Amino acid sequence: MDLFKKLIAEEEPLGQHANVREDYYMFPKLEGEISPRMTFEGKEMLTWSLNNYLGLANHPEVRKVDAAAAEQYGLAYPMGARMMSGNSVHHKELEAQLADFISKESVLLLNYGYQGVLSIIDALVDRRDVIVYDAESHACIIDGLRMHIGKRFVFPHNNIENLEKQLIRATKITEETGGGILVITEGVFGMSGSMGNLKDIVKLKDKFNFRLFVDDAHGFGTMGKTGAGVGEEQGVQDQIDLYFSTFAKSMASIGAFVGGDSQIIKYLRYSTRSQIFAKTLPMAFVLGAQKRLELLKNHPELKDNLWKIATALQDGLRAEGFNLGSTQSPVTPVLFSGGIPEAANMAWDIRENYGIFCSMVIYPVVPKDVIMLRLIPTAVHTLDDVKETIEVFAAVKHKLDSGTYKREEIIQVSGK
Ligand SMILES: Cc1ncc(COP(=O)(O)O)c(C=O)c1O
Repeated sequence: MDLFKKLIAEEEPLGQHANVREDYYMFPKLEGEISPRMTFEGKEMLTWSLNNYLGLANHPEVRKVDAAAAEQYGLAYPMGARMMSGNSVHHKELEAQLADFISKESVLLLNYGYQGVLSIIDALVDRRDVIVYDAESHACIIDGLRMHIGKRFVFPHNNIENLEKQLIRATKITEETGGGILVITEGVFGMSGSMGNLKDIVKLKDKFNFRLFVDDAHGFGTMGKTGAGVGEEQGVQDQIDLYFSTFAKSMASIGAFVGGDSQIIKYLRYSTRSQIFAKTLPMAFVLGAQKRLELLKNHPELKDNLWKIATALQDGLRAEGFNLGSTQSPVTPVLFSGGIPEAANMAWDIRENYGIFCSMVIYPVVPKDVIMLRLIPTAVHTLDDVKETIEVFAAVKHKLDSGTYKREEIIQVSGK
């Protein structure tokens, strides 16, 4: 059989939606400055999908540094992979500043979070080692596991009793193989908004010998007294052996980092293939990250404002009877049960008739009969934005409950 014909015939779950107008539900194009009011299909939308928790994307000081760095260095410098020709004083400086902020001895910058995590997992384990991971882990963790040729065991999300069982199994195996155990979880889970139960996980270190890797993409900048993340929030930062976060959320940029003891970070510096064989972060991202980190550290009012908006939004939605699942963070999932056409029709109504844009999350990201509309508040949203959104969601819920969106077909949006 022809390979491409086979692929086209057996669509991936998400590919099945490609026949619906592509840039409306999937691959939508939001235009204009990153702000709560952006343009979609020529209309202004109150937007809740900004990847900009602290509102730094358009902070005037950030924009100035980003532009000046691009002007001074262009986008090519430094030239290659970090190890070869891609290092600079500023890369080193940023690593030291991040290490200081997250209270770790050392930090390694990563050019992208996804590749970084995948490749760190690959670098940490061999066939003798066992990985034990949370079932709701992000794709970068799951894809890292796929590269692991040793055993791996999953525990249901935050189920510490089950984690303990998996650690017993893992310990038996590693006693035979002479390997070690890596436990992987997240700080804030980006879909549900729940926190990893790090406090109870680290308690298991008294009974078992394992190292803990935490992906805190959504917790860095949003959680903890200083914004240093969920380790700080739960008082266990020193028990996290490798702390990872990306610049793609609170820092509103590109790039990522991992922090830990100097020796293991040095090992990773020489062993993480996604960094050894790929170009480093260009200067604009490094200098831009330094400015963002400075603002994140010195302006706690950004995080306070984020939480003011998040709390008002979540309290208001709960008061209207919405199910927000188990969120403990600004991530605000609004959960419905229903099929994909129903979800798409509701998302269409919210956009076209009420001017609100939020992400719709469907299978396979969430289970088959679950629809999630995901709102991500930021420090630059206002309480008026929150009020408007709650009113719209209340109106839409009424329609949903009375069956307005129940049709087999997804409304076809005409192309432009
Ligand atoms: C939990 C989590 N880990 C890792 C990543 C990947 O980071 P990046 O966008 O820097 O590749 C993301 C998404 O950005 C994420 O949500």
